[in-house]
Amino acid sequence: MTSPLGKDLLGLEHLSAEQISLILDTAVPLKAISERTIKKVPTLRGATIVNLFFEASTRTRISFEFAEKRMSADTVNVASAGSSIQKGETLVDTARNLEAMKIDMVVVRHGSSGAARFLAERIESNVINAGDGTHEHPTQGLLDLLTLRDRWGSLAGRRVCICGDVLHSRVARSNIWGLQKLGAEVAVCGPRSLLPRAIAEMGVIVFDRIEAAIEWADALNVLRLQLERMLGGYIPSLREYNRVFGVTSERLGRAPRDILILHPGPMNRGVEIDSDVADGPHSVILDQVTNGVAVRMAVLYLLAGNSPQLAEAAKGGA
Ligand code: CP
Repeated sequence: MTSPLGKDLLGLEHLSAEQISLILDTAVPLKAISERTIKKVPTLRGATIVNLFFEASTRTRISFEFAEKRMSADTVNVASAGSSIQKGETLVDTARNLEAMKIDMVVVRHGSSGAARFLAERIESNVINAGDGTHEHPTQGLLDLLTLRDRWGSLAGRRVCICGDVLHSRVARSNIWGLQKLGAEVAVCGPRSLLPRAIAEMGVIVFDRIEAAIEWADALNVLRLQLERMLGGYIPSLREYNRVFGVTSERLGRAPRDILILHPGPMNRGVEIDSDVADGPHSVILDQVTNGVAVRMAVLYLLAGNSPQLAEAAKGGA
């Protein structure tokens, strides 16, 4: 059976609203599997999945691995350290050698924008983008959408502001595409040095002050300052960034309505977000992490060509 998502999941830009909703709807019943004592169903038994991580990751790598194992797939993790990538082997050669060992899917994280597509066009296995450079991080976008939909029922007409280092953020791009397709209004807020010059062309509102963003929004998705991608000069200092753009409980206390706080992690506590906000009543940050496993199960399941109805059966341990 062919997948309703096509061969690969490379980003949310080219998915339809129906495809995105299908993934979210499929994830909902799959959540129950992780609540059981025995967290395993046979849905992907016999499938071999390679997790190819060329950049550091905690949440994405581990939740893909949990998702794969909970659906009974056989999984192999390959990191650049300790593999022949260190000897100069190319991404495509690595993947083709893995394919020669008869694999079915590759989950790839890579520092170069477009690496997932480049790979998908050259191998037969399904490719899932787990974050490519500053381009997209589709499963993070999907888990953010699911977390908001869980709270609100629907995203239509809701206002979400993406705050901080949008310039270096693949999470921002996947969120903007996904939120807009599901009918939300999207804004960004941050210093101009950390916003792409053409950001307004993506149909988003731009706030220069975090106070204005808090007044407008139903939810803030607070991005990590990606210090490792900055070669310097973007902000005067971390302390200054926190003073002007930090999401603090004092600022949230002036919000005119209930406001949800998301963060994709890892957090720079005391920089883009204060600890009492990250751990406080507005925060849905750990719900995002929980939903990450279910969303990744749904993506694997749909790419494997299963029908959405079978998700219900899988939940029952079919
Ligand atoms: N959100 C996210 O991608 O986190 P990791 O880098 O830990 O995978």
